[in-house]
Amino acid sequence: MPPGHLCQVQGGHLAKALFSLESNFAPQIRDEMTLRASCRRRNSGQPLEDNKGERHMQRLLVDQQVITNIQMQDIAPVPLAKGQVRLRLDSFALTANNVTYAASGFAIGYWKFFPTGIMGQGQLPVWGTGEVIESQSDDAPIGTRLYGFYPAAETLVVTPRTTRSGTVEDRAAHRADLPAVYNRYIPITHSTPAQDHLRALLQPLLATSWLLADWLRDNACFGARQIIIGSASSKTGLGLCKFLAEDDAREVKIIGLTSETNKGFVEQFGACDAVLTYDEISNISQTPSVYVDMAGNSAVKHALHGHLAAELKHSAAVGISHWDKFAPKQDLPGVKPQFFFAPAQIAKRRTDWGPGVVEREITQAWQRLGETAGDWLDVTVHEGLEAMQDVYASLASGQANPRQGHIITL
Ligand SMILES: NC(=O)c1ccc[n+]([C@@H]2O[C@H](COP(=O)([O-])OP(=O)(O)OC[C@H]3O[C@@H](n4cnc5c(N)ncnc54)[C@H](OP(=O)(O)O)[C@@H]3O)[C@@H](O)[C@H]2O)c1
Repeated sequence: MPPGHLCQVQGGHLAKALFSLESNFAPQIRDEMTLRASCRRRNSGQPLEDNKGERHMQRLLVDQQVITNIQMQDIAPVPLAKGQVRLRLDSFALTANNVTYAASGFAIGYWKFFPTGIMGQGQLPVWGTGEVIESQSDDAPIGTRLYGFYPAAETLVVTPRTTRSGTVEDRAAHRADLPAVYNRYIPITHSTPAQDHLRALLQPLLATSWLLADWLRDNACFGARQIIIGSASSKTGLGLCKFLAEDDAREVKIIGLTSETNKGFVEQFGACDAVLTYDEISNISQTPSVYVDMAGNSAVKHALHGHLAAELKHSAAVGISHWDKFAPKQDLPGVKPQFFFAPAQIAKRRTDWGPGVVEREITQAWQRLGETAGDWLDVTVHEGLEAMQDVYASLASGQANPRQGHIITL
């Protein structure tokens, strides 16, 4: 697919009307970047030059109304202002989480992080590691490597400021009101590409898994006898199953809920007491339960709420990996689903435990699970943003193999 051409991803559904808050986040910012279609492909990580010797950078744009429509574009980078640096992205992970960033781009505000200046087009947020290649700031000299939240693009301009804890914050005005967790970059000093890949794949997802497990314990599992995890084959789901299972003294059963094709994989992972498919909800025991929903599938949610009725003590909405089967407003039997807000649990633990402890616990947790990754995760490395288009298509259509962890290198 040549850059500049729209690409219709197979098997996707229209994301239109997924959320009703879109008008609140209509893109208004026009940056100075000049949009240029180009049919030249990159073969290496070097920026392209046109016949005037002008440098270009490549980025992936997502149609904000039909998120399965993506296109590659070349643009001329803006000159740096004082205090800014330009990072070149080395590698990043791509999972269902990134697709759901796009699917909830307006409702949750993910389009606000990396505005494109083009009406109706957004940049897909990803987790990865980049290196400062141009600097107008003492806080991040050339060569500084930073792990964090990037757009799926070759470069990103940030306004870095080093915090007391040693992390680097982007102080760009348009990010000031966005959740701090996404604005913070971690300096990486010694790291192999394999370590960069595993961090990008696991850290953001397993941090959420651990916080969910901690929050459930903190709330005595709402009195439940079983925790049901929707989209159990996702990395976030597997992580939650595993972190719950680590507690030998637990009194709750862990029930993984997944699709037929992924049932064997979740069983093999070995952290659930039982694994059921979405068609087997009627076999779930009608005892006090909590549903932790990574799928967001409205039919599944309806069936589960109906089956458990008053036995469902809490229903937590965490993700919409089945983004094309999600209904933002749904009348459900029983308790009303509550959005799980991970930063709130972090803030609570900072108060309970003092500064730095919850962060250390999260790091240890994802690294602990990362040590066993060879048993349940095949890291697949794809070269270049062009290669990302097929990976995005397979993730958006639910075709991706949950055992695979996709990394894009630039
Ligand atoms: N709120 C938060 O803070 C937070 C943080 C991290 C992740 N999450 C959410 O957790 C979910 C999982 O993310 P992940 O990156 O861990 O996923 P992942 O590892 O890429 O998992 C992929 C799994 O998701 C399901 N799936 C994906 N796309 C689908 C589709 N179109 N149709 C049907 N099933 C599909 C399948 O699981 P099954 O067959 O088991 O359903 C698939 O095995 C996402 O919705 C993500 O946004 C939320």
